[in-house]
Amino acid sequence: MSSTPTFTVIGHRGARGHAPENTLLSIDTAIGLGAHWVEFDVQHHADELWLMHDLRLDRTTNGRGLLTDCDAETLRRLDAGNGEPIPTLRDALDLIEQRVGVNIELKSWNGCAAAVAACLRDYLAEGWPASKLMVSSFHLPELWEFKQLLPEVPLGVLYCGVPLDWAGLAGELGARVLNISAEFVDTKLIADAHARGLKLNVYTVNDPEDLKLMRALGVDGVFTDYPDRALAL
Ligand code: G3P
Ligand code: MG
Repeated sequence: MSSTPTFTVIGHRGARGHAPENTLLSIDTAIGLGAHWVEFDVQHHADELWLMHDLRLDRTTNGRGLLTDCDAETLRRLDAGNGEPIPTLRDALDLIEQRVGVNIELKSWNGCAAAVAACLRDYLAEGWPASKLMVSSFHLPELWEFKQLLPEVPLGVLYCGVPLDWAGLAGELGARVLNISAEFVDTKLIADAHARGLKLNVYTVNDPEDLKLMRALGVDGVFTDYPDRALAL
């Protein structure tokens, strides 16, 4: 990003509306469409960080069963759509080459904070600015662990609902952003996030009217499968 946009368009799982989710093609499509940031999901297994949303391979690949039941060689050979392989975190970062911000979502029922921190430490050492990275999760203890390991990388708290202490839980973690499901967006929550110096983004918004509404409500950004629709506002 050359300048900070007032309404941040985050390509969800790349540009999932245009290409198979969480693939390099999807990420590259999102960047080509002009997304300011790209989001993708990572899971840790067999000493690798795989871009994969589900625990099971069935919905998004030609594999069957649990990701964690496959060895790395088998995972590398799977088709994640349009002949695209399941990328690793390093594959994705090498493709992106700092062109846009990168939101890495920890899908960590078996834990991936330490592996992601080790990987990002290498990229920071190579000159990636921490400001172009964001690590987010619904799993707040994983975010806490990540923060202890690599405090310079900003955190985003994911929440599907309206927390009892409004945006307080993000502040408690030292996160910069609260990411809320679109069905729970709430003007008081937006105001509370802003009063605490936090940004509030909403996922996943695809309908042009909904995108317009989110912007009118004053949210800071949206995760969308169609970055082009959000950018057309
Ligand atoms: O990070 C926003 C969004 O991706 C969270 O939900 O299920 O699409 O990973 P999910
Ligand atoms: Mg996600």
